[in-house]
Amino acid sequence: PETGCLSIIVLGASGDLAKKKTFPALYNLYRRGFLQSNEVYIFGYARTKISDDDLRNRIRGYFGKDASEHSEDVSKFLQLIKYVSGSYDTEDGFRLLDKEISEHEVSKNSAEGSSRRLFYLALPPSVYPPVCRMIRKCCMNRSDLGGWTRIVIEKPFGKDLESAEKLSAQIGELFEEPQLYRIDHYLGKELVQNLLVLRFANRFFLPLWNRDNIDNVQIVFREDFGTEGRGGYFDEYGIIRDIIQNHLLQVLCLVAMEKPVSLKPEHIRDEKVKVLQSVLPIKDEEVVLGQYEGYRDDPTVPDHSNTPTFATVVLRIHNERWEGVPFILKAGKALNSRKAEIRVQFKDVPGDIFKCQKQGRNEFVIRLQPSEAMYMKLTVKQPGLEMSTVQSELDLSYKQRYQGVAIPEAYERLILDTIRGDQQHFVRRDELKAAWEIFTPLLHRIDDGEMKPLQYQPGSRGPVEADELLAKAGYVQTHGYIWIPPTL
Ligand code: BG6
Repeated sequence: PETGCLSIIVLGASGDLAKKKTFPALYNLYRRGFLQSNEVYIFGYARTKISDDDLRNRIRGYFGKDASEHSEDVSKFLQLIKYVSGSYDTEDGFRLLDKEISEHEVSKNSAEGSSRRLFYLALPPSVYPPVCRMIRKCCMNRSDLGGWTRIVIEKPFGKDLESAEKLSAQIGELFEEPQLYRIDHYLGKELVQNLLVLRFANRFFLPLWNRDNIDNVQIVFREDFGTEGRGGYFDEYGIIRDIIQNHLLQVLCLVAMEKPVSLKPEHIRDEKVKVLQSVLPIKDEEVVLGQYEGYRDDPTVPDHSNTPTFATVVLRIHNERWEGVPFILKAGKALNSRKAEIRVQFKDVPGDIFKCQKQGRNEFVIRLQPSEAMYMKLTVKQPGLEMSTVQSELDLSYKQRYQGVAIPEAYERLILDTIRGDQQHFVRRDELKAAWEIFTPLLHRIDDGEMKPLQYQPGSRGPVEADELLAKAGYVQTHGYIWIPPTL
């Protein structure tokens, strides 16, 4: 592994993302020993004029239980953070930042003198271009002894194909693709990272994973709360841009892609791009949009907002493996539960002699959160004297099977990857483009008011029309069966 001074610069240090995700992830990496205090320094940068201690105290406020339980560790970690204030589009602040980074490098680098600079843009995308320009101009690693400068950015990467391409071009003029890490935090989730292993390391799945056996695939995201406090941001984007075009589509790629030539990041990303390019244009009749009642009561949301907070969209992949298999992407806010899962539903058994008493189809469910698990729903004989059948499951529940193993947070893992230079779990420019190509026509029709969301009750399953679309696409619900996560 590389050594030498590592400077992590969090731009937008006083914002929500930094406080809720970036700093806690850095702290966890520190506590697990991945950030050594003899080589790491963390800089917070933002416009507000506050002191180092002000920033440290704000961050401490987000550590919850840890702040009291591990107060010594937390204090040591916070001492690694320095605050620099400045604007996002003028040189002064960035020159000052560069000076601070360089001073720290000189003090840490008595022996091995490479310099690694990781810029984490926890900022609204509108300032990505000026900030990247300033970094390029004022803050690049200049060490003769090696090292690097890397940029981490977060969605939203644009609002449609055109704006995304423009943003990519602006940033692409300043940084090479290997320096750019586009985060989609779903790629950092344990069970998403498991998908390639599951699919390609198990003989069980290899012959079944295709249109001959699989009837439909659902990728579902549900939240049981609304857009509280984020209405202003959300209303401009809506559920398709917020969740489906990125998080769920990334999951779809891993479920549907062909086997990569190797595990090299470029090989994997090549296959993801191919799947995306094989997706057919979305049909209006295979879309159901919803907006929960009360969404517009948020003062930051316009009274006549047409923004969907719920969507079910069927994607069709035009290739040899998936022709005819609907991939149903569904996401919603203010629903009746919070979970994210992949459901692979198999076809009926041909010539089934148990058909009249059967409860449902085979289904392979990968539960991303909460209660990480995978389970296979299958029909077995009901135990007892009678010969009847019942739906049961083979269950691999992580809490039970991997007791005492702490599953790392998505952000923790992804930030570690950026330090190690592994781009496998980051979105490549052509992948992003292909993802926008799929959704842009639909998004424009919604933006233009040509497609309107249906109202649904907060705390419900969403519009009933979405369930009807599911049924039409071929999904068969198993009645009377509920998976109960095993307790210890
Ligand atoms: C973010 C979205 O990307 O993901 C949020 O902007 C959403 O709207 C969040 O709540 C969900 O992430 P997770 O990891 O809690 O499923």
